[in-house]
Amino acid sequence: MTDIRISKNISNIAISAIKEMAIRSARIEGAASLAWGLPSFRTPGHIRRAVERRLESDPDIGKYALPDGLPELRALVVNEHFAATGIRVDPDRNVMITAGNMQGLNALFHVLIDPGDEIIVTDPGFASHFQQIRLCGGRPVHWPMDESMGWSLNVDDLHSRITDRTRALVVVSPSNPTGKIFSEDELRRIGAIALERNLLVLIDDPYSHFTYENRDRYFNLASVAALADNLAYLFTFSKTYAMSGWRLGYMIVPGFLKREVMKVHDATIICAPRISQVAGIAALDTEPTHLKQFEDILARRRRLICARLDAVPHVFEYVKPEGAYYVFPGIRADHDSAFEFSLRLLEDAKVTVTPGSAFGPTGEHHVRMAYCVEDEIIERAFDRIEQNFPR
Ligand SMILES: Cc1ncc(COP(=O)(O)O)c(C=O)c1O
Repeated sequence: MTDIRISKNISNIAISAIKEMAIRSARIEGAASLAWGLPSFRTPGHIRRAVERRLESDPDIGKYALPDGLPELRALVVNEHFAATGIRVDPDRNVMITAGNMQGLNALFHVLIDPGDEIIVTDPGFASHFQQIRLCGGRPVHWPMDESMGWSLNVDDLHSRITDRTRALVVVSPSNPTGKIFSEDELRRIGAIALERNLLVLIDDPYSHFTYENRDRYFNLASVAALADNLAYLFTFSKTYAMSGWRLGYMIVPGFLKREVMKVHDATIICAPRISQVAGIAALDTEPTHLKQFEDILARRRRLICARLDAVPHVFEYVKPEGAYYVFPGIRADHDSAFEFSLRLLEDAKVTVTPGSAFGPTGEHHVRMAYCVEDEIIERAFDRIEQNFPR
């Protein structure tokens, strides 16, 4: 036994249930996993080929980039953000290239949080946000969503969550884990509260390109010019471009924040991997024709998983997800807790899901299923669920 001490902060944090279930699932041969939100898609060919070419032709490809990213990529991000929001930002003052949204958020939390400070997160919300906040010595404050209202935001309730320790709130739309697309009205009201209470809104955006027939309902709060000093918008290439392993994203931040975020970059990762930034240039420089195909496939899988859920109302009841690629059903079968149910499902039926309690207290008695996997896996998982829970 060694006496090396682990910090209280880290000792008190558990690995997320998403990864925990993925690890357990990997140990069970033939498990049908709906646990990890990792799309089955390959990074599009034009991105891979552009990287191949640059590997050969660019003598600097193996070197550090500037801490805020390659100028060529930041210039493309400016155009991309303008197309998405109608807001023209400055590549030097506002754009920061990150090693994915997790790293971008981590840098922001470092900048925002003193020990004991609070960050408001939706409940259910993305489990890794809670851990990141704790890593920085902060406290995630859960803001419950109402399932009976289709998992929409309860904006009237937001005021009661804000204290003099509140620094920011995090919003993901379409949501992980519920698939909810928050309405323009709800989001604008949040923005107004952030302005009034001097808070930062952090928009973590992995899924805005996966909205299916609900495209018109998606609203990007970063398009509100009045929020320029109170909003950080984080986009990741992970899902839209099937680039989760490249670890690449960008964030648009007010100028005063960029200076501070640069300090965290400098002290931690120096820069996002340059080769991934080259992939990002290829991604943004080309018409994203692959996206229609991604979305069509995911739409088919969404229909499939909803049809299969409809056939087991004695096991699950659910709100139809509007976007992203998750569904968050409540458990109707006998169970003690979401965790106990998920473990039993893995051991008895070889089906992996994520216990909803990982996404906050409101997620108890629910599970999250990711339907970005191959159709056969969804079919196999539900064949086994039907066998395991006869009517
Ligand atoms: C809400 C949310 N934020 C961030 C991430 C991770 O993003 P990245 O790969 O850019 O770190 C995910 C991945 O599932 C996610 O669902």
